[in-house]
Amino acid sequence: MGRILTPFIDDLLARVDIVEVVERRVPLKRAGREWTACCPFHDERTPSFYVSPQKQFFHCFGCGAHGSAIRFLMDYEHLEFQDAVEDLASSMGLVVPREGGPTASHDNHAPLFELLETATRRYQQALNDHPQAQAYCERRGLDTDTLQRFRIGWAPPGWDFLYQALGRDATRVQQMEQAGLLAMGEQGRRYDRFRERLMFPILDRRGRVIAFGGRIIAGDGPKYLNSPETPLFHKGRQLFGLWQVRQQAAKVEHLIVVEGYMDAIALHQHGLPQAVATLGTATTPEHAELLFRTAADVYYCFDGDRAGRAAAWKALEATLPRLRDGRQAHFLFLPDGEDPDSMIRAEGSAGFTERLEQATPLSRYFFDTLAEGVAVDSLDGRARLAERARPLLAKLPDGAFRDLMVQELEQRTGVRVVAATAKSAPMRKTGTFQHPTRGRISLVRKAIERVLARPALAQDHPPPYRFVGLRQPGVPLLIELLQLAHDHPALHTGAVLEHFAGREEAVALHKLAAKIDSDQEDFDYQAELDDALHQLDRQADAARLAALRLRLAENPLSADERQELQELLQAKPVQ
Ligand code: UTP
Ligand code: MN
Repeated sequence: MGRILTPFIDDLLARVDIVEVVERRVPLKRAGREWTACCPFHDERTPSFYVSPQKQFFHCFGCGAHGSAIRFLMDYEHLEFQDAVEDLASSMGLVVPREGGPTASHDNHAPLFELLETATRRYQQALNDHPQAQAYCERRGLDTDTLQRFRIGWAPPGWDFLYQALGRDATRVQQMEQAGLLAMGEQGRRYDRFRERLMFPILDRRGRVIAFGGRIIAGDGPKYLNSPETPLFHKGRQLFGLWQVRQQAAKVEHLIVVEGYMDAIALHQHGLPQAVATLGTATTPEHAELLFRTAADVYYCFDGDRAGRAAAWKALEATLPRLRDGRQAHFLFLPDGEDPDSMIRAEGSAGFTERLEQATPLSRYFFDTLAEGVAVDSLDGRARLAERARPLLAKLPDGAFRDLMVQELEQRTGVRVVAATAKSAPMRKTGTFQHPTRGRISLVRKAIERVLARPALAQDHPPPYRFVGLRQPGVPLLIELLQLAHDHPALHTGAVLEHFAGREEAVALHKLAAKIDSDQEDFDYQAELDDALHQLDRQADAARLAALRLRLAENPLSADERQELQELLQAKPVQ
């Protein structure tokens, strides 16, 4: 999928009325020249959320949420930038032009979505006509509302139910194959992939069917069969049930991550509609990011057996790099022989909630697991523990949580831990980035203020800078400042200002300089600058990753790009 062209976004925003976009979702009251409501992004009783038709901007004085119509859609509907633009455009009857022309467009996928949607309907109908499958659903305790909410269906026996229904011509057959609906026999004969299975559609974040899981209800064969990877479906990036979670609440406080389809569904049906399932794969860092973008608290729920423990540790590793301050992960282990499905049926949502409340915080799970089999009362044991923990702690993003974890390790081991930081990271190509996102402007400004206050700190930050490609206001100025201060170690604030005399930026720099707090210690400035630059690097990585992923969806990547993608995906802490 090609990049959306910036002029189109300008054009789109010029045509859209943000008041209408918001009003369709949040009832607004007039307040002078603006419109107001209770903020949909945080709890409040009195309205502090304003929408301005003049500025085409929303702003909440309570929680600070703000932005354009695109940003509103992203936050409110939990959409990615690209998807928010698609939605807005289609509500205006516009087609999004993309780099590389129409062939590289999203529309390529339209027939696949359509096929999968039709297949879902056929499977749903077939369930109505199949008493045995219905009886199975009943035995599993699935009520009608749940069957509908999850669009559960039945793939009939035979080899050509869908093939007959949908495979009208060669193009269709090819598309069915692309959508993962067909399997191929030895002589190249194609047939329905899913037969005699209870069908669970997997939805993307816009509620479109992108794949299926199918459960056998009698006889032999693998218990679950999933769609293969397709242009629409990458199982390491999808969470079953996330659409349903997002449908039932604009704001999701916490998510419960389970392993099975039936587990997620049972939790929804029994009053915990915050459950999602990984699709028979280990939790990936992409899952973790997706989870935390939806809710600040994530509860991983695993079986108490060895496989469950191993899966939990994988989840922990995937989660560490995503644990920015304010995000929390918890681990819940179920008694032997139980899964979330059986558990909630036995104990109800109250019982399950109690278990969630007693779940192990990531920090405790982390240290308890690492200390297993280590004699922490011996010097060697403590050294060993420190050794095990150090590379993992280095994965944590900078912040209070990481500091606390490091402290905790030092307390437990008596070993002074210097966790790696991102200072001397190698230069990476950074993709262009199309939209400034909330909070990022202030991050750049924060860095500018710090360099301005203590130009000497730039010595620790030699060029090149990984975030050079971030298209955010102030980035070029920040880079210029860093370079200037780096090349001229003796410059103080006043001298730096002189360098900008007569330039447009001078006014803003003077204002910032006037605000410098002369009481603040050097090491504060240093930590803050390090942190800000580190975060910018991460944003640049994320932007580049997003750009590569978008490219990957349509075009094969070059060897260099593949390599880069792999590096980014591993999200290694930069040492
Ligand atoms: P479980 O066997 O725990 O699934 O596998 P479950 O949801 O509890 O199944 P029920 O209760 O027996 O119906 C957990 C998950 O692992 C994947 C599926 O995603 C399943 O939901 N899995 C399992 C497969 O992909 N294939 C299999 O053969 C088995
Ligand atoms: Mn089960």
